[in-house]
Amino acid sequence: MTFKRVRKAVFPVAGLGTRFLPATKSMPKEMLTVVDKPLIQYAVEEALEAGVEQIIFVTGRGKGALEDHFDVSYELEDTMRGRGKSLAAIEGIRQKPGSPVYIRQQEPLGLGHAVWCAREIVGDEPFAVLLPDELMVGAPGFLAQMVKAYERVGGNLIGALEVPPEDTDKYGIITPGGIDGPLTEVLEVIEKPAKGTAKSNLMTPGRYILQPEVMRILDNPVKGAGGEIQLTDAMAQLIGKQPFHGYTFSGDRYDCGDKAGFIQANLALALARPDIGPAVRGFAERLLG
Ligand code: UTP
Repeated sequence: MTFKRVRKAVFPVAGLGTRFLPATKSMPKEMLTVVDKPLIQYAVEEALEAGVEQIIFVTGRGKGALEDHFDVSYELEDTMRGRGKSLAAIEGIRQKPGSPVYIRQQEPLGLGHAVWCAREIVGDEPFAVLLPDELMVGAPGFLAQMVKAYERVGGNLIGALEVPPEDTDKYGIITPGGIDGPLTEVLEVIEKPAKGTAKSNLMTPGRYILQPEVMRILDNPVKGAGGEIQLTDAMAQLIGKQPFHGYTFSGDRYDCGDKAGFIQANLALALARPDIGPAVRGFAERLLG
C-alpha cells in the first residue's frame, strides 16, 4: 500500500523556555548551541534528511533570531569572502526562498494549540512534528527512521522511548499493544499520568507523524495537563480510528530543554568530534580524577 508522503514538518518553537532562564530571557531556547550548532538546526537537518520539503515554524514574540539564522547574512558572508575565509559552516543553513514558513502562535496555550496554528499550511496531508529541544542523534536520524516505518504502516506514528519508571509522570506515556521490531501498537496515550498509574514506561519524545484529522480535533480544544491544550490528548482521539504506532529510535536522545540533558548533549557531541574531542576528553578525565 502507498501512503501520502510526509512533505511538511512543523516545529513548535513558541514556548517560553522558563527552565532555562536567564539564558532564554531574550534568546529563544531553540538557539541554544550544542557544540557549535543551535538546537533548531539539528532538528531542521533531521527533517530534511527524512525527505521533508516544507519547514513550518510556529513562533512567538522574541524569536526573531530563529528567522535570521535561516536567512541570508549578506554582511557576514561578504566580509568573510573579503577576508578569504571559508563559508562552509554557514552555506548549508539557508533554505529555499519562501521556506521556512513562520506562523505566530500569539499566546503560548500549549503544544496542541501551537500545532493547530499551522493547520492552513499543513492542509490535507500527513505531517511531521519535531520538538527541537529534544536532540536526537542517530544514523539515519530519528525522523528518517520513522518515515521508513510510516511507508510500511501509514497512519500516525509517534516516538516511543523507555524512561525510568519513577519518571513517567513527567511525560506522555503509551499503553502498548503488540510489538513488531521497533513498532509498538498504541492502545492509549496519557499525558503526565499521576504517579503509580502509568501503564508502561514508554514515553513519547518530541517526534510525531500525524494525519491531518488531528487538526479537526484541535478545532475544538480542551485544556489538559497543566491547563494547556495538549497534542497528546488530541492525537489520542485518533487511536482505534486510524493505525497508531510508537516507534523506538535506535540512536541517542538528549532532553535539551533540561539543563542536565543539555550539558550531557554538549559533552557527548564534543567528545565525538575529531577536532575538539581529544582536548575535551583530556580535560574531562583530569576533572573527574
Ligand atoms: P515545553 O514543555 O518544553 O515548554 O514545550 P517551553 O516553554 O519550551 O519550556 P519550559 O518548560 O518553560 O522550560 C515543548 C515544545 O513545545 C513548544 C515549545 O517551544 C517546545 O518546543 N511550545 C510549547 C509551543 O510552541 N507553544 C506552547 O504554547 C507550548
